[in-house]
Amino acid sequence: MEFANAPSLDNQSSAGLYTRYCDGKKSRTPVVDLRGLCSSCCVVNTLKEMEKRVAGVKKNIVIEGNCLEELKKLPAACVDLVFADPPYNLQLGGNLTRPDHSAVDGVDDAWDKFDSFAAYDQFSAAWLAEARRVLKPDGALWVIGSYHNIYRLGRILQDLDFWILNDVVWRKTNPMPNFRGRRFTNAHETLIWAARSQNTRHTFNYEAMKALNDDVQMRSDWELPICTGAERLKTDGRKAHPTQKPESLLARVLLASTNRSDVVLDPFFGSGTTGAVARRLNRHFIGIEQDPAYAALARERVDAVTPIASPDLLATEPKRAKPKVPFGSLIERGLIKPGDVLFDTRKRFTARVRADGSLVTDGKESGSIHSLGAKLQSLPSCNGWTFWHISRGGKDVLIDSFRDQIRAAEHPAHNSGD
Ligand SMILES: C[S@@+](CC[C@H](N)C(=O)[O-])C[C@H]1O[C@@H](n2cnc3c(N)ncnc32)[C@H](O)[C@@H]1O
Repeated sequence: MEFANAPSLDNQSSAGLYTRYCDGKKSRTPVVDLRGLCSSCCVVNTLKEMEKRVAGVKKNIVIEGNCLEELKKLPAACVDLVFADPPYNLQLGGNLTRPDHSAVDGVDDAWDKFDSFAAYDQFSAAWLAEARRVLKPDGALWVIGSYHNIYRLGRILQDLDFWILNDVVWRKTNPMPNFRGRRFTNAHETLIWAARSQNTRHTFNYEAMKALNDDVQMRSDWELPICTGAERLKTDGRKAHPTQKPESLLARVLLASTNRSDVVLDPFFGSGTTGAVARRLNRHFIGIEQDPAYAALARERVDAVTPIASPDLLATEPKRAKPKVPFGSLIERGLIKPGDVLFDTRKRFTARVRADGSLVTDGKESGSIHSLGAKLQSLPSCNGWTFWHISRGGKDVLIDSFRDQIRAAEHPAHNSGD
């Protein structure tokens, strides 16, 4: 299969066996890249160029047309993220009915029909190559599909030099039952999240995902309901679009992998779920939809969305933005004294605090709160702040609480605790 050539924007390599110098500047800056770019003036010029291109692109619009042609009209490197919910190429074969013989409102639209797997692959390779071209170098793409198409899409992504970051299983809490009883209930869809290239700096809002998940790392299996109830768009009492995705799914995708004001492109816009969520979360969107009725539906839907007004409501404070409080400063402030005894939750390990903020055990093993904690547990690492306790007023207190006290007293703007 022939894939369209990807642009060479990200064709990076470290300084090679020989050193070339950049012509763009009087100072002799070594060229760091196969295109002959250097890390100073060239990078600045490339960024300026990119900014100019992005500024010229119309945003927050629904383009009516075939994405294969419409994507070609967009300049290279102009969007931060692509979210695509392409045709599934469902091979259902015949009308699906419920046990009471009523028809199942599945997907049998013309846009989902392809003559063969080869035709589907050719179509997929063509739009994915264009999607890659319009992505900024540090951009990323999400594509959602079912067992009918996701494996084909995954292979094509890799052949096009996308770099798969995760496959996420969207587990539907309320899937459609399997009416014929000859297979398992098909209760999930798969999303592939891929960076434009290997070794690029894709956006991942780790802390936001953790916050969304009650302060526990977000996993790659997401349990969310399918789109029903008031959120489901209806025309004359029937589904206005057969495959409208839930806004909760898009919200998770956009919160995880974009920042405010980023541009999100959806080449298979459908009812406009991506645009509605992007607008609410203060992201820009570009939607492409070939069906005029769906494009109109999407425009109306997006226009009705009120963006979240306050930037405060959209920001997740990254942990590293909190002021650093070294363990030694607890001693300097007299909150913990040299000679105080620290211990873990189950009191398996104890250590005494030294004047310099390091710890020492009776067996003369020593180290920082982190390294000694790791050594005693035979672990590669340990967060000493959440490992060591101290006795205060008859109670076992985590030493982390002292760090919070210091932050609250000395950096009131950052006193929310970890
Ligand atoms: C699976 S649906 C997307 C549903 C959408 N995510 C939503 O939540 O409503 C795919 C959509 O892509 C559109 N489509 C299919 N082929 C297309 C093409 N070549 N160019 C543009 N749109 C296309 C279809 O009309 C359909 O609305």
